[in-house]
Order: sequence, then C-alpha cells, then structure tokens
Amino acid sequence: MYTPDKSPVLQPVTLGGLHLKNRIVMAPMTRSRSDDDGVPAHYAADYYSQRAGAGLIITEATNISAQARGYPRTPGIWCDTQVAAWKRITDAVHRQDGKIFLQLWHTGRMSHPDMQGGELPVAPSALKPAGQIRVHDGMKDFVIPRALEADEIGLIVEDYRRAAVNAQLAGFDGVEVHCANNYLLEQFIRDSTNHRTDQYGGALDNRLRFPLEVINAVIGVWGADRVGVRVSPITTTPGDTPLDSDTMNTYGTFLDKLSNLGLLYVHDIEGITQMSREESGGVTFEQLRKRFRGAYIANNQYTLALAELAVSQGNTDLVSLGRPFIANPDLVDRLRAGAPLAEAPKEYWYGGDATGYSDWPGMR
Ligand SMILES: Cc1cc2nc3c(=O)[nH]c(=O)nc-3n(C[C@H](O)[C@H](O)[C@H](O)COP(=O)(O)O)c2cc1C
Repeated sequence: MYTPDKSPVLQPVTLGGLHLKNRIVMAPMTRSRSDDDGVPAHYAADYYSQRAGAGLIITEATNISAQARGYPRTPGIWCDTQVAAWKRITDAVHRQDGKIFLQLWHTGRMSHPDMQGGELPVAPSALKPAGQIRVHDGMKDFVIPRALEADEIGLIVEDYRRAAVNAQLAGFDGVEVHCANNYLLEQFIRDSTNHRTDQYGGALDNRLRFPLEVINAVIGVWGADRVGVRVSPITTTPGDTPLDSDTMNTYGTFLDKLSNLGLLYVHDIEGITQMSREESGGVTFEQLRKRFRGAYIANNQYTLALAELAVSQGNTDLVSLGRPFIANPDLVDRLRAGAPLAEAPKEYWYGGDATGYSDWPGMR
C-alpha cells in the first residue's frame, strides 16, 4: 500500500495531449435517465460534474442513431436537441476541471422490435442472442435479428461519423468507440456471431473490416489521439459460452491494427464484465496489452490496491472503475483519504430519476 501522496494511481498524468488529474477513469455506465427521444436529463449535468474528480470520465453508452437503440431511456447523439443537452453536461464537467469522452454505441442484435418501431434489430447475421432484454414494459426474449445488407454497412459508418462530429459540437474531449460486450461492432468481430460470406465475414480480416471502417471514420473527425476503443475479449455476454474460437488471435490481431492507427487508448475489460477477472481462451491481459503501443486502460473489479499494483508493475497506464462511482461521487477523494465507500442498491442502477443518481452525498 502507498501513502496517498505516493500512490502512482492518484498522481496527475498526461494522456495524449490531455492533462488528467489522476489515473482513475470513470468507466462508462448506462443509467437510463434520458427521455424517450434520447435526450439526457438536466440532472445528468450534476451527476457527471460531481464525478469530475476522476482523471477522465467516459460517458454511458450513447446511441449513434435511432436504429442503434437497444434499451429504454438511453441517450443519443444524432440530433441537435441531444447535442445541446450533452453540451450542458460537458460544460459542467469542464467547469470542475474534468475531462469527458463520449462512448459511441450501436447495440445491433442486442435490441428488440419494441425499440425499433416494430422493425427487427440488425446484426451481421440472423443469429438470436441468448436470454432476454429489458424493454419499456419489462423483460422480453431476444428475437432473431435481420442480417445487414452489405450496402447498409456503409450507412452505419456514416452514422458513426456524424455522431463523432456531433460529439465535437457537444464539447467532448474525445470519443470512445464501444467495441465490447457483444454490441454491433463486436458482433462482427466474433466468429460465433458473424456467419457472413461477403467481405464483412469469414476470415478475420473480413470480420475486423467494419469495426476498422468505423474507427477510421471517427479518427477522420477527431484525429487518432482523441479516440479510444473499448474491448472485452473474454466476456461471454449475452450468454455464458465463449464467443470466439480463437480469442487471442482475434484480439491480438485487432490490437495490432489499432496500434498501427496510432489510437489514443484501448480500454480493456479484463475478464467477464462485472463477474470475474479470470483469463481464458488463451488470452492473458498482459500479453494482449503488449500488442498495443498506445495507452492501456484496465477495467473490471479493480480496487485501489490492485490498480496500484498494475500501474507500478507497468501493466497498465490507467484504471477504470465503474460501480464504485455510482454511490461515491467523490470517489477519488475517498480513495485518497482511505475513507469507506458507499454502495448503491441495484434498483438505482437503471432508470428512475435523480434519486440514487445525482443525489449521493460526498464524504462527511
Ligand atoms: C450500471 C452499469 C451500466 C453499465 N453500462 C455500460 C456502458 O454503457 N458501456 C460499457 O462499455 N460498459 C458498461 N458497463 C460496464 C462497466 O463499464 C464496467 O466494465 C463494469 O462495471 C466492471 O467494472 P467495475 O468492476 O469497476 O464496476 C456498465 C456497468 C454497470 C454496473
């Protein structure tokens, strides 16, 4: 254990050209407080600015288009009203000297006709996810999605580009492309969810084509030094079986390519999101991290002690924490002080209003 003034995690650091207060990142967390048009609530500015003690905030996943939506009350970044609401949030964070990136999202098959005006969700292939999804009136079984036509894929790349431009208009410091947790981009990467026979399926280079087209489009707007990518190589979401027949090769190759693009960071969910940090599928986090020259953000069940170990051993540059930020707006101060952490009941995680969201008190 380090004293707070010596903790390698709690000292300022430079990421690309950005000066961060410390190496702690607030992980993206869907909180489902936006309205039905995907406009963030006014109290979201309080929520995010209260957490500006993090070196970097990554917002909740944000839909790049109406088609991208999978869950009720998630925000968007495809129209002016949404941009204006996000601008109030980024202004509030910047007033607290914080930095904030927008996470860009398309849920693909992890959606439901109830969220798509009655249409089928889209995916690389017509393969139904395991389990159920939350829609406006409770949980429903996933459906078999519609496989995208090749010429629709270019239109989605354009949606990402427009979302990236809108993120600039909204005053963000950068963007994170959500390539994790088996949403659309990851559905293309994995051989269990992509059975296409065209240039977007089959061989690994083909499966990586669409995610790389998206990332290149976003880099075209922001420059590589303001773009990160989130991955979850070992996650089995939405079921409990491996998604890939050769995870290390798939993600090693993907990270090689991201490295060559000069991307700012890779944000790696190490293990099964929220569940375990176990390594599997021939992947070790350390090996994978070495495939990428840019910054590495480690995530999943980190404590300050684990973060200090990882940073001091050179295994990561930054560490993101998710759940601890929900009930601890001043999380970094608490870690610095060794103060106890509050825990948020799950009923506050998704949906509702300012209660259990932007009303958590700071340390007393
Ligand atoms: C309420 C909640 C919402 C989440 N929403 C997102 C999201 O929008 N985008 C994403 O990439 N991960 C999301 N995650 C995963 C977290 O970013 C993180 O990977 C996970 O909670 C593990 O980190 P932790 O152990 O520090 O909480 C969410 C997690 C929680 C608990």
